[in-house]
Amino acid sequence: MSESKTITQAELEEHQSQKDLWLLIDGKVYDVSKFMDEHPGGDEVLTSEGGKDATEAFEDVGHSDDARSLLGPMLVGKMEGAVEKPKTKTSQVNKDPTSATNSK
Ligand code: HEM
Repeated sequence: MSESKTITQAELEEHQSQKDLWLLIDGKVYDVSKFMDEHPGGDEVLTSEGGKDATEAFEDVGHSDDARSLLGPMLVGKMEGAVEKPKTKTSQVNKDPTSATNSK
């Protein structure tokens, strides 16, 4: 089993039912189906986040490190096109490197 499976939005949306639920948190997809009954915050909040990015909802609660450590075993894969926490970077795009060949 590869840990770096890439999940598409369509795949994520296929798992939105109470019995089969995937959540997208921080660019990674987790299968929370078996965790629903155990979640201290209840199953409804989880179901309502199915098929979309639950990062904000998850972070808003201020989940403990304990909660975060539960995520690992539920990992399904990475979300397609997920951007890993873009740090505020100034643009480093080299405008037109080929034009630099105009040497004297
Ligand atoms: C797989 C993802 C999640 C895991 C593993 C998880 C785990 C937990 C755990 C362990 C707690 C107990 C408090 C703590 O340790 O921080 C908790 C509480 C809570 N969670 Fe989650 N959670 C997840 C996703 C979510 C999402 C997406 C939401 C909101 C949409 C949510 C809402 C809540 C709320 C409201 C509580 C507080 C319950 C209370 O104290 O009454 N959780 N969660």
